[in-house]
Parts: sequence; structure tokens; C-alpha cells
Amino acid sequence: MPSHSEFIPFHRPAIGEDEIRSVVETLESGWLTTGRKVKSFEDDFARYVGSKHAVAVNSGTAALHLALDAVGIREGDQVIIPTMTFAATAEVVLYFNAKPVLVDCERDTFNLDPGKIEAAITSKTKAIIPVHFGGQPCEMDQILDIARKHNLRVIEDAAHALPAIDHGRTIGTIGDITCFSFYATKTITTGEGGMATTENPEWAERMRMMSLHGISHDAWKRYTKEGSWYYEILYPGFKYNLTDIAAAIGIEQLKKCNEFWETRQRIAMNYAKAFADLQEIQVPSCRNNVQHAWHLFVIQLNLERLKINRNQFIEALREKGIGTSVHFIPLHLHPYYRDKFAYKLEDFPNASAAFECIISLPIYPKMTEGNVRDVIVAVRKLVQEYRR
Ligand SMILES: Cc1ncc(COP(=O)(O)O)c(C=O)c1O
Repeated sequence: MPSHSEFIPFHRPAIGEDEIRSVVETLESGWLTTGRKVKSFEDDFARYVGSKHAVAVNSGTAALHLALDAVGIREGDQVIIPTMTFAATAEVVLYFNAKPVLVDCERDTFNLDPGKIEAAITSKTKAIIPVHFGGQPCEMDQILDIARKHNLRVIEDAAHALPAIDHGRTIGTIGDITCFSFYATKTITTGEGGMATTENPEWAERMRMMSLHGISHDAWKRYTKEGSWYYEILYPGFKYNLTDIAAAIGIEQLKKCNEFWETRQRIAMNYAKAFADLQEIQVPSCRNNVQHAWHLFVIQLNLERLKINRNQFIEALREKGIGTSVHFIPLHLHPYYRDKFAYKLEDFPNASAAFECIISLPIYPKMTEGNVRDVIVAVRKLVQEYRR
């Protein structure tokens, strides 16, 4: 039985009156799809991360797909990605009939291991997609050096990394193109949505055009005083445009991005302090000189010191009224990647070992101090109950 009355879910989006008012205003404006709100959201976002261009789309996956298209990924190419990621990072490579080449993660941060990248590079390799796991920036200097040496593009998967900073550089301004997600559980949300940032005007233009059928004008220019009925299809594009309804939420969420981050940072510090004395649990390790976005707080169980495994620990937490998750089931363990590319467990020792012992705890601005305390109490109780 939970010691507290309310179930604490793994995540609850922080939607307030401002977002609701903004959506209602948009609905009443008569303009629902891509228009002025999307343009404002893009401008606000570019200003916030400090990038020259920001292209809003309807998911982080769409942003990754458009980014790979913009830098010229073609059939038969290879793209290096970490195995410790979500389906999206790999599947966008497969959209081109190109090959996602999986690389192991670092054992402590779960980020792409720069020391293992070069062994995976072939004459067909065209790009690297580092994923800032949980919101902690990857070793970008090392990754950029490797990319420069081998003439590869760097598309950052920053689905978790708003706002994050690596050695003074904001995530969104470092690689060739950076892709963010505004899925419901992310650090800011539009329900579904994404953004691609870049310094390169041609890539920005290409992504913008391909996000709306490869058409040379976007809809609001076509149907308002600024535009005309005329358009040309330059390429067979996609239907990836963000709606003004979603952008209306995004504009308000972005205003609160710093405040949300401060709350998550405080929760992370509370957890870290509360579990510091437990040999049975390892809290996330942080690189020096980075700002971690704290999208996730992933603990590792020291299974040798516990009588239960990770799945049982998750179940016991659920019984105590705490929702958790697992990030991620590494790609090489999924049937599609395992069977198609003949990946084995031992090809990725760090990710394979991590998967056995990781649990993502709730960390979001809607958590009350009481909720955080309840999570801490529940975890500590389970450790006491099941320690060897
Ligand atoms: C690492 C990573 N990359 C990409 C995505 C895809 O983002 P979206 O759901 O907005 O398409 C997600 C998540 O949901 C993710 O966790």
C-alpha cells in the first residue's frame, strides 16, 4: 500500500492557465494551422537557444528526418547513432534506406561513447547523431573533432536537452543541426511537436520547404495578403508542419522553460543527496562544465547488493504508489535491430549492462515537495527491505 494517498505518476505535463488562454485565443482567431503563432514560436525559440534559424515541425522525429534530408543523407549511406536511445533516432535513418550503425554508450553517462565512434566509421559513413541522454550534453568537442577528421555531419538529437549547455555553448548552437522534441513528457511540450535549429540558411530553408510538401511557399503566405494562390512543388516533401494551436502552447511553455529547469534541478539535487549514502543505488554522474537539462533522473541499482531485480523494484515502487519508467531498452535488444543487423548483447557491453539496472524516477515541475519526499521515502524503504 502507498504510504501517501495519491499515486505519483512518472510524468504530468505542466499546463497552466496561460497555455489554455493562448489555445483559446488561437481557436477564436480563425487560424488553426501553420501561421503567425508558429512563426512567433520559431523566433522565440531561436532567440532562446541563440541559434540563427529554428524550424518548427510536428515531432522531434520529423525534425530528425528533415535534418538528415537537409545534410544530404541518401540510400546506402551509414549514420552512427547510440544504441542507448529511442526508436526515432534510428528509424529516421532507415527512411532513406540508409543504415543506422549502433555504437555503445559510456557506462556512467549513457551518452554515445566518443572512444568507440571511429571503429564504426566506414567509407559510407556520412553523419553522427549524438543523443544528449536524459538532458546531459555529450562530449561534443570530441565528437566534433572526429566528425571534422572524417568529414561527417553532426545532427544532435536534443529531444531531452532543453535547456542544456556544454562548456558555455547552448545545445541548439553546436552541431550542424539540432533537433528538439515537445512530446508530452518532454521539458516543454506542445502535446506533439519538434524544432530543428541550425546556423545554415540553406538547410533551414530546405527543412522548411520539405516540412510542407516540398512547396515553395508556406500556407499562411499563400492565403493571406502577404502571399498569393500560386505555389510550386519543388520536391516530394512531407506533411510535418506544426499547427498554430500547438505553437500557442509552445510559446507559453518556452516562457517558463528556465523556471521548469530550476525546479527539476532542485529535485535532482534532492534525490542525489537523499540517496548518496546508499551503496545499493547509484545516482546519475554529471560531467564538469555542463548544464544538465534534467529531463530524466536515472538511478542504477547495484543488483549484487539487492535481493530483487530491476523489474521487481519497479513493481514494488508501483505498489508504493510511484510511477517510473526505463530509458531505454537499447536498440540492439529490440527484435528488428537484433535480427536485421545481427547485433549481439556483447557488442554493446555498457548499454547491455546498464539496461539490467536502470530506473527513471519522476522528475517534473508539477511534483510537490511532498511528492519528492514520498519518492525518496519509497526508494529508501525498498532498499532497506531488500538489501542483501
Ligand atoms: C532520444 C529521443 N529522440 C527522439 C525522440 C522523438 O521525439 P518525438 O516523440 O517528438 O517524435 C524521442 C522521444 O520521444 C527521444 O526520447
